[in-house]
Amino acid sequence: MKERLQELKEEALNKVEQADTLNELQDIRVAYLGKKGPITEVLRGMGKLSKEERPVIGELANKVREAIAGELDAKKESIEARELEEKLEKETIDVTLPGRPVTVGGPHLLTSIIEEIEDLFIGMGFEVREGPEVETDYYNFEALNLPKGHPARDMQDSFYITEELLMRTHTSPVQARTMGKFQGSKPVKMICPGKVYRRDTDDATHSHQFTQVEGLYVDRNVRMSDLKGVLNRFAKQMFGEEREIRLRPSFFPFTEPSVEMDISCKVCHGEGCSVCKGTGWIEILGGGMVHPRVLEMAGYDPKEYTGFAFGMGPERIAMLKYGVDDIRHFYTNDVRFLKQYHKA
Ligand code: DAH
Repeated sequence: MKERLQELKEEALNKVEQADTLNELQDIRVAYLGKKGPITEVLRGMGKLSKEERPVIGELANKVREAIAGELDAKKESIEARELEEKLEKETIDVTLPGRPVTVGGPHLLTSIIEEIEDLFIGMGFEVREGPEVETDYYNFEALNLPKGHPARDMQDSFYITEELLMRTHTSPVQARTMGKFQGSKPVKMICPGKVYRRDTDDATHSHQFTQVEGLYVDRNVRMSDLKGVLNRFAKQMFGEEREIRLRPSFFPFTEPSVEMDISCKVCHGEGCSVCKGTGWIEILGGGMVHPRVLEMAGYDPKEYTGFAFGMGPERIAMLKYGVDDIRHFYTNDVRFLKQYHKA
């Protein structure tokens, strides 16, 4: 029996030595140390031994087991260490490889211009308000002194949704909405940027959808000179301190008197050139003193309150400021165009 145990030990240790994978080790463990293995079998046969021999063989059998188990464990550790080593080797990262560039977007030119306009007017005490793009006929026209059938409605070809609902043709309805909310209870000093819609055929200077920024200041003793002062500051900050402005008489149903504002041409400084079509001036916005009827309809007493209003198109402002020659550039969104205006 002693020899058999020695033999088993040598055999097992040999196999452990040659084993190369954790699976092989597991097989050896089961084969030699398992319940059905040869060592268990030897122990089972001990009943036939004499009293003196039994403890000797028992001890030897245990030692053989321990020796085999010890070797199995040691080998297992070394295989695991080797496998980890191999895995680490395989997973090494070449930190010298150039990285993939991260492309960073930026605000759309129109967004930047609108934010610039907002900042400028916030600096002069205006608050920023918004109104719905789907508007009622009442706010888009009637509350602005454009009753049904008024010929000036044709100035703004509209997208109607129902008889009473349309895509707003300008941001002016937000004037009526804001004043209507306060019903003469307090002064209003706000601007409203937003999208507007007109039934126009798109070309270099027309778009069926574009943006506007509306302005409204209603208080006691607001005068035309206040409008001029505010717009002069706006023009100089937006286009440069050297720019002059001029107001020309015009017509809008919701202002009386109405004006259009021009800025001096930056190319010829008022001399007249092809950019300003020989006039020296470039039109940039419309405005005027809020019509008493508009004040009245929104609950403001025109004997107590006066106000000015204006409306401008950020596309036009961006086109003049940056020399963009086609309004469609803002909406076709070719990144090569847009990228030029990303601030670093
Ligand atoms: N709503 C006008 C338009 O879309 C622009 C405008 C003109 C707005 C005069 C005003 C204003 O507030 O006073 O053509």
